[in-house]
Amino acid sequence: MKALVYHGPGRKAVEERPKPKVEAPTDAVIRITKTTICGTDLHILKGDVPSCVPGTVLGHEGVGVVEEVGAGVTLFKKGDPVLISCITSCGKCEYCRRGVYSHCVSGGWKLGHVIDGTQAEYVRILHADTSLHHIPPGSDEAALVMLSDILPTGMEIGVRNGKVAPGGSVAIVGAGPVGLACLLAARFYTPGQIIVVDLDDNRLEVARRFGATHVINSKTTNAVEAIMKITEGRGVDTAMEAVGIPATFGICESVVAVSGVLANVGVHGVKVDLHIERLWAQNISITTGLVDTVTTPMLLKTVTAGSLDPAGLITHRFKFGEMMEAYDTFARAAETGALKVLIEA
Ligand SMILES: NC(=O)c1ccc[n+]([C@@H]2O[C@H](COP(=O)([O-])OP(=O)(O)OC[C@H]3O[C@@H](n4cnc5c(N)ncnc54)[C@H](O)[C@@H]3O)[C@@H](O)[C@H]2O)c1
Ligand SMILES: [Zn+2]
Ligand SMILES: [Zn+2]
Repeated sequence: MKALVYHGPGRKAVEERPKPKVEAPTDAVIRITKTTICGTDLHILKGDVPSCVPGTVLGHEGVGVVEEVGAGVTLFKKGDPVLISCITSCGKCEYCRRGVYSHCVSGGWKLGHVIDGTQAEYVRILHADTSLHHIPPGSDEAALVMLSDILPTGMEIGVRNGKVAPGGSVAIVGAGPVGLACLLAARFYTPGQIIVVDLDDNRLEVARRFGATHVINSKTTNAVEAIMKITEGRGVDTAMEAVGIPATFGICESVVAVSGVLANVGVHGVKVDLHIERLWAQNISITTGLVDTVTTPMLLKTVTAGSLDPAGLITHRFKFGEMMEAYDTFARAAETGALKVLIEA
């Protein structure tokens, strides 16, 4: 089979690899029909994720068809269309029993990280019964690819952690695919104000289309001053950090309202300053999290019901054979306007 293989910082190639086989009774092998690239794949390619060793097939998002199941898999059979969760969970360990699948002792973020991932014609899924989801007939499978990672991230780490509530005010700093997923998820709770901050006017325009009430380009406007003005000096009930750098965490610290929540979503590589000398008396909470994907079944129902349409995040489509072009387009998002690139069999 063809697969996109990581070869160390800055190096990747499409290669011929042996088709994966069922190795444990709880495994399934999936024929991938649609996959995509995540900002995290670019982090790996930059060398920021040393736990991903050269030789690993990248990718942790996708949909496909069950090709083969182990004897212990009871919920799926050959031919079933499935959504792959970016998080593998055994369903049995202490963390899984608490719903913290991201820290499953034999799962968590494994795909395209410490085991071969979904940017290939076939992928082996561990703990298949609890790491795959059935796709309802008639679903828009391209839209469902957005449910492998970014929509549950927005819902769990941005919206639920951030306690978004009807009539409340929300600031989302970072309008990449993840920040926009936070925006789509926030709208379920009908906040009164959704303010989106980014440096890229194209992404801010998408945010507006997706329902942002205000957009701020922080390259040309002081984002903190603008948010304080919009909220009449109070700040926002929920400040979501969806970039992963000190500057944007700092914006969130400055705009979180009394008794509000700073919901950190971004993956940080360096430390940030915590202004506890100012925040201690503000009754705020700071939340962090790696996505658990516990909300995926609920999000699947909202897509089926037509109340969530994440297909609007897909800006480019490629065939499997064009995987390298897909990476190039995604990596040059500022020039190409890429949000999510769909790669189809
Ligand atoms: N917590 C989780 O489980 C989880 C899951 C998936 C992704 N993430 C993380 O979420 C973050 C966002 O992911 P993404 O795929 O949308 O990334 P992305 O790089 O596509 O988007 C980041 C956005 O931030 C904007 N930005 C950069 N610097 C800025 C600044 N100084 N001020 C305002 N905006 C700025 C960029 O223009 C871009 O639009 C990443 O750190 C990613 O690793 C976390
Ligand atoms: Zn991802
Ligand atoms: Zn577990």
